[in-house]
Amino acid sequence: MPKRLIVAIDGPAGSGKSTSAKLVAQKLNYLYIDTGAMYRAVTYLAMEKNVLQNTDAAIEIAKDSDISLKFIDGITHVWVDGNDITDKIRTPEVNGNVSEISKIKEVREVLVKKQQEYASRNGGVVMEGRDIGTVVLPNADVKIFLNASIEERAKRRTKEFEEKGIHVPLNEVEINIRQRDKIDSTRDVSPLVKALDAVEVDTSKITIEQQVEIILDLIKKAQEKK
Ligand code: DC
Repeated sequence: MPKRLIVAIDGPAGSGKSTSAKLVAQKLNYLYIDTGAMYRAVTYLAMEKNVLQNTDAAIEIAKDSDISLKFIDGITHVWVDGNDITDKIRTPEVNGNVSEISKIKEVREVLVKKQQEYASRNGGVVMEGRDIGTVVLPNADVKIFLNASIEERAKRRTKEFEEKGIHVPLNEVEINIRQRDKIDSTRDVSPLVKALDAVEVDTSKITIEQQVEIILDLIKKAQEKK
């Protein structure tokens, strides 16, 4: 039996993280954790309570809310205190605010702890985000940093919105991604950076199937070394 590993996948919005991480986890029957969904949940709740500008209130929300993730039929479902908010966290409005909430150190501390608990409960895990290989799971067996050109990433996100019936012009999506990239990679706490020991993969010109193959191959090689 191949050893079940801890796999960390990081990268900016639209780099193909979620799609390939999900497929890899399904193929290997590993637990799949989308950490961005947790930051989105806190952002959505702060928007609902009208406290986006209030750091203390956002920290309270992160501490007091029981946020849980469950992967069902290809979708990460997010529950907060028993309510399913899955459809509410992937809107242009949440996209516009999530980087500001993710900058808050104490919010990150609470969510990172939950993420580490998820990983420690299970043998095989694929966790994706921005700081998984650097902060959340620094001892992960396999670390991958996915990237792609901004144009390609904006196209992918616009298409995802279209598929959900949300029409946002391509240039607006690109502006939002540029802003998020900037905030995510320059923030003081756990910025989006490639871990020194991560393998970087440019997904601009490869298919999802090829991405999945590359990741599965890296996992296989790591298993052989164990
Ligand atoms: O992966 P995503 O687009 O759903 O993530 C949404 C935001 O959450 C992203 O702009 C930055 C933040 N995030 C983070 O700061 N750390 C993570 N591990 C995951 C996401």
